[in-house]
Amino acid sequence: MKQESLANTGEPWRVGVLFSRTGFMAIIEETQVHGTLIAIEEINERGGVNGRELVPVIYDPASENALFRAYAKRMIVEDQLSTIFGCYTSSSRKAVLPIVERLNCLLWYPTLYEGFEYSPNVIYTGAAPNQNSVALCQFLTEKYGSRFYLIGSDYVYPRESNRVMRELLSKRGGHVVGERYVGLRASRRDFVPVLNEIRDLSPDVIFSTVVGEATVSLYQAYADFGFDPRITPIASLTTTEAEIRAMGADVGEGHITAAPYFEGLPGVTNDAFVKRYKRRFGEDQSTNMCVEAAYFQVHLFARALEHANSLDPEILRPMVLGSTYDAPQGTVSIDAGCGHAKLWSRIGRANGRGQFDVLQESSSLVPPDPFLTGTGFGRLAPA
Ligand code: ACM
Repeated sequence: MKQESLANTGEPWRVGVLFSRTGFMAIIEETQVHGTLIAIEEINERGGVNGRELVPVIYDPASENALFRAYAKRMIVEDQLSTIFGCYTSSSRKAVLPIVERLNCLLWYPTLYEGFEYSPNVIYTGAAPNQNSVALCQFLTEKYGSRFYLIGSDYVYPRESNRVMRELLSKRGGHVVGERYVGLRASRRDFVPVLNEIRDLSPDVIFSTVVGEATVSLYQAYADFGFDPRITPIASLTTTEAEIRAMGADVGEGHITAAPYFEGLPGVTNDAFVKRYKRRFGEDQSTNMCVEAAYFQVHLFARALEHANSLDPEILRPMVLGSTYDAPQGTVSIDAGCGHAKLWSRIGRANGRGQFDVLQESSSLVPPDPFLTGTGFGRLAPA
């Protein structure tokens, strides 16, 4: 029986969860599973949605885009699901996109990405470039200089994100002195030629869009080379508390990340979220921007479902658009026009405890501007 025809029957609401729990992306995607699950558990503790429990149907695509595609199809066709929480890499999102569009499912995507995309079948709850890259570029050029070296994993997000950064930089009178891509499974050894080149070119900033386990290898190789983050930091949009924990706080210390959320943010909502997360998954575990988006998007979904009382995307989506939630990062909302989240914009520097000290933040929510039309550039102020 189709899920949306089950309203008021007391049957559970079944939802798909599609993040890698194994493979080279599990380092961050497993945390997104955790964020999704604790939100589902919170909602069920309060009696579910309209008296019906949320039940996750979880698949592990093992960091393989082909499996993302196959499992998305299985979820919709065989499991009869019409809501999927999932995807970290933009390549996995793009693998899933034609399926969710053709079979009319709603994908909730809790990861920062390169922008320049709109789908009526996706709710985007991670940052678009105007909510992270713009402020980061300004901060870096003012503080460190305007000669950037770009290093990324070799797929669509880093290449597009670097294109955006190159443009932002040139508008500020800076330029890119080098640009390299490594495989998604890059090891410490693979970064040696890159770091040799960086030593020769002596940039002011290394802008990294390396993702997953390779992030750990990049920062460790940087430390092996004896570079000093106070002089030439790695600035990233994808290095969170999870990757810092894996590389060691001493290796991550001094490097910069732009994100809507950091674990150490003050406030009762975040305190309760972090405590719950640690109680559920271990005191040594950390929250991060991707967990937080995975968490708050389930709450946004549940609120919309309460009003729609249906998982049919045609009925549910209008309830999502314009909705707000008091998230751990601060109140967030979904822009009614483009289905992307209005988020807070922050810049943090990793400290010796594996946490980020917030250096700058926006004074209000930054609206999404995924096509960089220039309408949504948040100026940040010292935190
Ligand atoms: C990403 O691939 N959107 C980080």
